[in-house]
Amino acid sequence: MQQDKVKIELGGMSASMFFPLWGRAQLSKKYSSLFYDAKAIELVEKIDYDFSTSGIPFQDILSNISFEGGLPLLSLFSLRAKQFDEKVKAYIRERPRASVVNIGAGLDTTFYHVDNGTIHWYDLDLPAVIDVRRQLLPEPERVTYIAKSLLDPSWCKDINTDNGVFMVAGGVLSWLEEAEVKQFFSMLTDNFPDGEIVFNFRPRSGASIDAWMDQFPPEQRDAMMAAWMEAMNGWWEKAPQDQKDNLNDMIAALKISTKPKGKEWSDIKAWWEKLKDTEKAEAMAEFWTFFRGGVGLWVPEDASEFTKWDSRITVADQVPLFKNIPRDSLSAEVRRFMDYNDERGKASVIHLRV
Ligand SMILES: C[S@@+](CC[C@H](N)C(=O)[O-])C[C@H]1O[C@@H](n2cnc3c(N)ncnc32)[C@H](O)[C@@H]1O
Repeated sequence: MQQDKVKIELGGMSASMFFPLWGRAQLSKKYSSLFYDAKAIELVEKIDYDFSTSGIPFQDILSNISFEGGLPLLSLFSLRAKQFDEKVKAYIRERPRASVVNIGAGLDTTFYHVDNGTIHWYDLDLPAVIDVRRQLLPEPERVTYIAKSLLDPSWCKDINTDNGVFMVAGGVLSWLEEAEVKQFFSMLTDNFPDGEIVFNFRPRSGASIDAWMDQFPPEQRDAMMAAWMEAMNGWWEKAPQDQKDNLNDMIAALKISTKPKGKEWSDIKAWWEKLKDTEKAEAMAEFWTFFRGGVGLWVPEDASEFTKWDSRITVADQVPLFKNIPRDSLSAEVRRFMDYNDERGKASVIHLRV
Protein backbone atom coordinates (compact mmCIF):
# COMPACT_ATOMS: atom_id res chain seq x y z
CA MET A 1 0.00 0.00 0.00
CA GLN A 2 1.32 3.39 -1.03
CA GLN A 3 1.01 4.97 2.46
CA ASP A 4 3.29 2.27 3.94
CA LYS A 5 6.12 3.04 1.56
CA VAL A 6 9.22 4.82 2.78
CA LYS A 7 10.46 7.66 0.57
CA ILE A 8 14.23 7.53 0.16
CA GLU A 9 16.32 10.50 -0.92
CA LEU A 10 19.76 9.19 -1.81
CA GLY A 11 21.80 10.21 -4.82
CA GLY A 12 25.29 9.70 -6.22
CA MET A 13 27.28 6.51 -6.01
CA SER A 14 25.46 5.23 -2.92
CA ALA A 15 22.24 4.98 -4.95
CA SER A 16 24.00 2.04 -6.64
CA MET A 17 22.92 -0.03 -3.61
CA PHE A 18 19.38 -0.17 -4.96
CA PHE A 19 20.42 -2.28 -7.94
CA PRO A 20 21.84 -5.39 -6.29
CA LEU A 21 18.88 -5.20 -3.90
CA TRP A 22 16.49 -4.99 -6.84
CA GLY A 23 18.37 -7.83 -8.54
CA ARG A 24 18.12 -10.10 -5.49
CA ALA A 25 14.41 -9.37 -5.15
CA GLN A 26 13.85 -10.10 -8.87
CA LEU A 27 15.70 -13.39 -8.62
CA SER A 28 13.83 -14.38 -5.49
CA LYS A 29 10.43 -13.65 -7.00
CA LYS A 30 10.99 -15.19 -10.41
CA TYR A 31 13.71 -17.80 -9.85
CA SER A 32 13.46 -18.86 -6.23
CA SER A 33 15.20 -22.14 -7.03
CA LEU A 34 18.35 -20.12 -7.85
CA PHE A 35 18.29 -17.81 -4.87
CA TYR A 36 15.73 -16.75 -2.32
CA ASP A 37 15.93 -13.63 -0.19
CA ALA A 38 12.56 -12.82 1.42
CA LYS A 39 13.96 -9.71 3.11
CA ALA A 40 15.07 -8.24 -0.23
CA ILE A 41 11.53 -8.65 -1.62
CA GLU A 42 10.11 -7.03 1.51
CA LEU A 43 12.52 -4.10 1.24
CA VAL A 44 11.84 -3.44 -2.44
CA GLU A 45 8.11 -3.39 -1.68
CA LYS A 46 8.67 -1.01 1.21
CA ILE A 47 10.76 1.55 -0.64
CA ASP A 48 9.26 4.43 -2.53
CA TYR A 49 11.99 4.58 -5.18
CA ASP A 50 11.64 4.27 -8.92
CA PHE A 51 14.13 1.53 -9.78
CA SER A 52 13.60 2.21 -13.50
CA THR A 53 14.51 5.92 -13.58
CA SER A 54 17.51 6.06 -11.33
CA GLY A 55 20.30 8.57 -11.81
CA ILE A 56 22.74 5.78 -12.59
CA PRO A 57 22.03 5.19 -16.26
CA PHE A 58 24.37 2.27 -16.73
CA GLN A 59 22.61 0.17 -14.14
CA ASP A 60 19.20 1.29 -15.23
CA ILE A 61 20.03 0.09 -18.72
CA LEU A 62 21.39 -3.20 -17.40
CA SER A 63 18.19 -3.77 -15.47
CA ASN A 64 16.30 -3.41 -18.75
CA ILE A 65 18.37 -5.92 -20.69
CA SER A 66 16.72 -9.30 -20.44
CA PHE A 67 17.46 -12.71 -21.77
CA GLU A 68 14.82 -14.72 -23.52
CA GLY A 69 12.46 -15.79 -20.74
CA GLY A 70 12.76 -12.39 -19.08
CA LEU A 71 15.75 -12.86 -16.78
CA PRO A 72 17.30 -9.38 -16.41
CA LEU A 73 21.06 -9.32 -16.77
CA LEU A 74 21.46 -7.31 -13.59
CA SER A 75 19.65 -9.88 -11.48
CA LEU A 76 21.91 -12.58 -12.88
CA PHE A 77 24.94 -10.65 -11.58
CA SER A 78 23.22 -10.46 -8.20
CA LEU A 79 23.91 -14.17 -7.85
CA ARG A 80 27.20 -13.18 -6.23
CA ALA A 81 25.05 -13.11 -3.08
CA LYS A 82 24.65 -16.88 -3.35
CA GLN A 83 28.44 -17.37 -3.42
CA PHE A 84 28.81 -15.03 -0.44
CA ASP A 85 26.18 -17.01 1.50
CA GLU A 86 28.06 -20.25 0.94
CA LYS A 87 31.36 -18.69 2.03
CA VAL A 88 29.91 -17.14 5.19
CA LYS A 89 28.09 -20.35 6.10
CA ALA A 90 31.27 -22.42 5.69
CA TYR A 91 33.25 -20.02 7.93
CA ILE A 92 30.68 -19.84 10.72
CA ARG A 93 30.23 -23.60 10.68
CA GLU A 94 33.84 -23.71 11.98
CA ARG A 95 33.52 -20.58 14.16
CA PRO A 96 29.88 -20.26 15.21
CA ARG A 97 30.48 -17.16 17.35
CA ALA A 98 32.53 -15.28 14.73
CA SER A 99 32.16 -11.64 13.75
CA VAL A 100 31.00 -11.08 10.17
CA VAL A 101 31.49 -7.61 8.70
CA ASN A 102 29.49 -6.57 5.65
CA ILE A 103 31.56 -3.80 4.07
CA GLY A 104 29.63 -1.33 1.89
CA ALA A 105 26.50 -3.10 3.11
CA GLY A 106 23.93 -0.87 1.40
CA LEU A 107 20.63 -2.72 1.83
CA ASP A 108 22.19 -6.16 1.68
CA THR A 109 20.34 -8.74 3.78
CA THR A 110 22.85 -11.61 3.90
CA PHE A 111 22.57 -11.74 7.72
CA TYR A 112 18.95 -12.88 7.45
CA HIS A 113 19.77 -15.94 5.36
CA VAL A 114 22.94 -17.12 7.07
CA ASP A 115 22.33 -16.33 10.75
CA ASN A 116 23.09 -19.29 13.02
CA GLY A 117 21.82 -17.62 16.20
CA THR A 118 25.31 -16.94 17.64
CA ILE A 119 27.35 -14.86 15.16
CA HIS A 120 27.83 -11.15 15.61
CA TRP A 121 27.12 -9.23 12.42
CA TYR A 122 28.23 -5.71 11.44
CA ASP A 123 26.85 -3.69 8.52
CA LEU A 124 29.23 -0.91 7.59
CA ASP A 125 28.47 1.87 5.11
CA LEU A 126 28.66 5.66 4.74
CA PRO A 127 26.54 7.61 7.27
CA ALA A 128 23.80 8.62 4.76
CA VAL A 129 23.32 4.96 3.80
CA ILE A 130 23.26 3.74 7.38
CA ASP A 131 20.53 6.33 8.10
CA VAL A 132 18.44 4.84 5.28
CA ARG A 133 19.21 1.31 6.43
CA ARG A 134 18.15 2.13 10.00
CA GLN A 135 14.91 3.61 8.75
CA LEU A 136 14.05 0.52 6.72
CA LEU A 137 15.66 -2.24 8.77
CA PRO A 138 16.18 -1.43 12.44
CA GLU A 139 19.23 -3.23 13.87
CA PRO A 140 18.24 -6.74 14.98
CA GLU A 141 19.82 -8.35 18.02
CA ARG A 142 23.50 -9.34 17.42
CA VAL A 143 23.74 -6.85 14.53
CA THR A 144 25.63 -3.55 14.77
CA TYR A 145 25.46 -0.82 12.15
CA ILE A 146 28.67 1.16 11.61
CA ALA A 147 28.28 4.54 9.92
CA LYS A 148 31.84 5.02 8.69
CA SER A 149 33.82 4.90 5.50
CA LEU A 150 35.62 1.61 4.92
CA LEU A 151 38.75 3.76 4.63
CA ASP A 152 38.37 5.08 8.17
CA PRO A 153 40.65 2.77 10.22
CA SER A 154 38.66 3.41 13.41
CA TRP A 155 35.95 0.91 12.36
CA CYS A 156 38.43 -1.94 12.86
CA LYS A 157 38.36 -1.21 16.61
CA ASP A 158 34.55 -1.54 16.62
CA ILE A 159 34.79 -5.25 15.71
CA ASN A 160 34.97 -8.05 18.26
CA THR A 161 37.94 -10.14 17.13
CA ASP A 162 37.74 -12.85 19.83
CA ASN A 163 36.13 -15.58 17.70
CA GLY A 164 37.34 -14.91 14.17
CA VAL A 165 36.51 -12.20 11.62
CA PHE A 166 34.98 -12.82 8.21
CA MET A 167 34.24 -9.96 5.82
CA VAL A 168 32.09 -9.65 2.71
CA ALA A 169 32.37 -6.70 0.30
CA GLY A 170 29.84 -6.89 -2.53
CA GLY A 171 29.97 -4.35 -5.35
CA VAL A 172 32.01 -1.87 -3.38
CA LEU A 173 35.76 -2.17 -4.01
CA SER A 174 35.38 -1.40 -7.71
CA TRP A 175 34.19 2.11 -6.79
CA LEU A 176 37.57 2.87 -5.22
CA GLU A 177 40.89 3.98 -6.65
CA GLU A 178 43.70 1.42 -6.56
CA ALA A 179 45.61 3.37 -3.85
CA GLU A 180 42.47 3.28 -1.68
CA VAL A 181 42.05 -0.46 -2.13
CA LYS A 182 45.70 -0.98 -1.14
CA GLN A 183 45.20 1.22 1.94
CA PHE A 184 42.07 -0.79 2.80
CA PHE A 185 43.88 -4.13 2.57
CA SER A 186 46.78 -2.94 4.65
CA MET A 187 44.24 -1.87 7.33
CA LEU A 188 42.81 -5.38 7.25
CA THR A 189 46.18 -7.12 7.56
CA ASP A 190 47.20 -4.81 10.43
CA ASN A 191 43.95 -5.22 12.38
CA PHE A 192 42.62 -8.69 11.60
CA PRO A 193 45.45 -11.24 11.51
CA ASP A 194 43.67 -14.50 10.52
CA GLY A 195 40.72 -12.53 9.11
CA GLU A 196 39.14 -13.54 5.79
CA ILE A 197 37.33 -11.56 3.12
CA VAL A 198 35.25 -12.35 0.03
CA PHE A 199 34.36 -9.91 -2.72
CA ASN A 200 33.27 -9.99 -6.34
CA PHE A 201 35.47 -8.77 -9.16
CA ARG A 202 35.81 -8.64 -12.90
CA PRO A 203 39.39 -9.01 -14.17
CA ARG A 204 41.21 -6.10 -15.76
CA SER A 205 41.11 -7.76 -19.15
CA GLY A 206 37.30 -7.85 -18.93
CA ALA A 207 36.68 -4.42 -17.53
CA SER A 208 36.10 -2.23 -20.59
CA ILE A 209 32.67 -2.18 -22.15
CA ASP A 210 34.26 -3.48 -25.31
CA ALA A 211 35.45 -6.53 -23.40
CA TRP A 212 32.15 -6.43 -21.56
CA MET A 213 30.32 -7.39 -24.78
CA ASP A 214 32.77 -10.24 -25.00
CA GLN A 215 31.16 -11.89 -21.97
CA PHE A 216 28.31 -12.89 -24.29
CA PRO A 217 28.89 -16.01 -26.36
CA PRO A 218 29.47 -14.92 -29.99
CA GLU A 219 26.04 -16.09 -31.13
CA GLN A 220 24.36 -13.91 -28.46
CA ARG A 221 26.22 -10.68 -29.19
CA ASP A 222 23.99 -9.22 -31.93
CA ALA A 223 20.87 -9.86 -29.88
CA MET A 224 22.54 -8.33 -26.83
CA MET A 225 23.63 -5.26 -28.76
CA ALA A 226 20.03 -4.90 -30.01
CA ALA A 227 18.76 -5.32 -26.42
CA TRP A 228 21.28 -2.73 -25.29
CA MET A 229 19.99 -0.23 -27.87
CA GLU A 230 16.40 -0.97 -26.93
CA ALA A 231 17.22 -0.46 -23.27
CA MET A 232 18.94 2.84 -24.11
CA ASN A 233 15.82 3.85 -26.01
CA GLY A 234 13.63 3.00 -23.01
CA TRP A 235 15.99 4.92 -20.75
CA TRP A 236 15.87 7.93 -23.08
CA GLU A 237 12.08 8.07 -22.95
CA LYS A 238 12.01 8.49 -19.19
CA ALA A 239 15.42 9.99 -18.33
CA PRO A 240 15.43 13.53 -16.93
CA GLN A 241 16.70 16.22 -19.32
CA ASP A 242 19.99 16.71 -17.45
CA GLN A 243 20.92 13.05 -18.02
CA LYS A 244 20.08 13.33 -21.73
CA ASP A 245 22.18 16.51 -21.89
CA ASN A 246 25.04 14.59 -20.25
CA LEU A 247 24.85 11.89 -22.90
CA ASN A 248 24.83 14.47 -25.70
CA ASP A 249 27.79 16.32 -24.12
CA MET A 250 29.67 13.08 -23.87
CA ILE A 251 29.01 12.18 -27.50
CA ALA A 252 30.17 15.69 -28.48
CA ALA A 253 33.42 15.08 -26.56
CA LEU A 254 34.15 11.65 -28.10
CA LYS A 255 37.44 11.34 -29.93
CA ILE A 256 35.78 10.06 -33.10
CA SER A 257 34.94 12.74 -35.66
CA THR A 258 31.50 11.55 -36.89
CA LYS A 259 28.76 13.01 -34.70
CA PRO A 260 24.93 12.70 -34.63
CA LYS A 261 22.94 15.22 -36.69
CA GLY A 262 20.79 16.28 -33.71
CA LYS A 263 20.22 15.67 -30.02
CA GLU A 264 17.23 13.34 -30.06
CA TRP A 265 17.37 9.56 -29.61
CA SER A 266 16.56 9.00 -33.30
CA ASP A 267 19.64 11.08 -34.22
CA ILE A 268 21.86 9.18 -31.77
CA LYS A 269 20.57 5.81 -32.96
CA ALA A 270 21.08 6.67 -36.65
CA TRP A 271 24.62 7.90 -35.91
CA TRP A 272 25.50 4.81 -33.87
CA GLU A 273 24.29 2.39 -36.52
CA LYS A 274 26.60 3.95 -39.10
CA LEU A 275 29.77 3.79 -36.97
CA LYS A 276 32.48 1.25 -37.81
CA ASP A 277 33.00 -1.54 -35.27
CA THR A 278 36.34 -0.06 -34.18
CA GLU A 279 34.68 3.33 -33.56
CA LYS A 280 31.91 1.67 -31.57
CA ALA A 281 34.49 -0.07 -29.40
CA GLU A 282 36.34 3.20 -28.81
CA ALA A 283 33.13 5.03 -27.95
CA MET A 284 32.04 2.21 -25.62
CA ALA A 285 35.29 2.48 -23.67
CA GLU A 286 34.70 6.22 -23.22
CA PHE A 287 31.04 5.67 -22.24
CA TRP A 288 32.21 3.28 -19.56
CA THR A 289 34.25 6.02 -17.87
CA PHE A 290 31.25 8.33 -18.11
CA PHE A 291 28.86 5.80 -16.59
CA ARG A 292 31.18 5.40 -13.65
CA GLY A 293 31.07 9.15 -13.04
CA GLY A 294 34.68 9.45 -14.16
CA VAL A 295 35.92 7.26 -11.31
CA GLY A 296 39.14 5.48 -12.27
CA LEU A 297 38.64 1.77 -12.56
CA TRP A 298 40.39 -0.38 -10.03
CA VAL A 299 40.70 -3.86 -11.44
CA PRO A 300 43.20 -6.59 -10.60
CA GLU A 301 43.84 -9.32 -13.16
CA ASP A 302 43.31 -12.08 -10.63
CA ALA A 303 43.45 -12.96 -6.95
CA SER A 304 47.23 -13.54 -6.89
CA GLU A 305 47.79 -9.81 -7.43
CA PHE A 306 46.82 -9.15 -3.78
CA THR A 307 49.56 -11.43 -2.49
CA LYS A 308 52.10 -9.17 -4.23
CA TRP A 309 50.74 -6.15 -2.36
CA ASP A 310 51.29 -7.68 1.05
CA SER A 311 52.97 -10.98 1.88
CA ARG A 312 50.48 -11.56 4.73
CA ILE A 313 47.66 -11.96 2.17
CA THR A 314 47.02 -15.44 0.81
CA VAL A 315 44.42 -16.68 -1.64
CA ALA A 316 41.88 -19.08 -0.14
CA ASP A 317 39.80 -19.44 -3.29
CA GLN A 318 38.66 -17.82 -6.51
CA VAL A 319 35.20 -18.97 -7.57
CA PRO A 320 33.62 -18.32 -10.97
CA LEU A 321 30.48 -16.25 -10.41
CA PHE A 322 28.01 -18.94 -11.45
CA LYS A 323 29.80 -21.97 -10.00
CA ASN A 324 27.36 -24.53 -8.55
CA ILE A 325 24.33 -22.33 -9.30
CA PRO A 326 21.47 -24.68 -10.21
CA ARG A 327 20.58 -23.99 -13.84
CA ASP A 328 17.73 -26.45 -14.48
CA SER A 329 14.95 -23.86 -14.41
CA LEU A 330 16.76 -21.53 -16.83
CA SER A 331 16.58 -21.21 -20.59
CA ALA A 332 19.37 -22.69 -22.72
CA GLU A 333 20.41 -19.14 -23.60
CA VAL A 334 20.98 -18.13 -19.97
CA ARG A 335 22.77 -21.40 -19.19
CA ARG A 336 25.08 -20.83 -22.13
CA PHE A 337 25.83 -17.30 -20.90
CA MET A 338 26.67 -18.59 -17.42
CA ASP A 339 28.89 -21.41 -18.68
CA TYR A 340 30.66 -19.14 -21.16
CA ASN A 341 31.41 -16.60 -18.40
CA ASP A 342 32.61 -19.19 -15.92
CA GLU A 343 34.84 -21.01 -18.40
CA ARG A 344 36.58 -17.75 -19.28
CA GLY A 345 36.74 -16.29 -15.75
CA LYS A 346 34.79 -13.20 -16.78
CA ALA A 347 33.43 -12.58 -13.30
CA SER A 348 34.53 -14.16 -10.06
CA VAL A 349 34.31 -14.13 -6.33
CA ILE A 350 37.67 -13.91 -4.57
CA HIS A 351 38.27 -15.25 -1.08
CA LEU A 352 41.44 -14.05 0.67
CA ARG A 353 43.03 -14.63 4.04
CA VAL A 354 44.50 -11.46 5.45
C1 LIG B 1 26.74 -1.31 -5.35
S1 LIG B 1 26.40 -0.92 -3.66
C2 LIG B 1 26.48 -2.53 -2.95
C3 LIG B 1 25.69 -2.66 -1.68
C4 LIG B 1 25.69 -4.05 -1.06
N1 LIG B 1 27.01 -4.56 -0.80
C5 LIG B 1 24.94 -5.02 -1.94
O1 LIG B 1 25.56 -5.89 -2.57
O2 LIG B 1 23.71 -4.91 -2.01
C6 LIG B 1 27.90 -0.13 -3.12
C7 LIG B 1 27.84 0.30 -1.67
O3 LIG B 1 29.16 0.67 -1.25
C8 LIG B 1 29.04 1.76 -0.38
N2 LIG B 1 30.31 2.47 -0.33
C9 LIG B 1 30.97 3.09 -1.33
N3 LIG B 1 32.10 3.68 -0.89
C10 LIG B 1 32.17 3.40 0.44
C11 LIG B 1 33.11 3.71 1.46
N4 LIG B 1 34.19 4.44 1.22
N5 LIG B 1 32.87 3.25 2.70
C12 LIG B 1 31.77 2.50 2.98
N6 LIG B 1 30.85 2.18 2.05
C13 LIG B 1 31.04 2.63 0.80
C14 LIG B 1 27.92 2.58 -1.00
O4 LIG B 1 27.40 3.55 -0.11
C15 LIG B 1 26.93 1.49 -1.39
O5 LIG B 1 26.04 1.20 -0.37
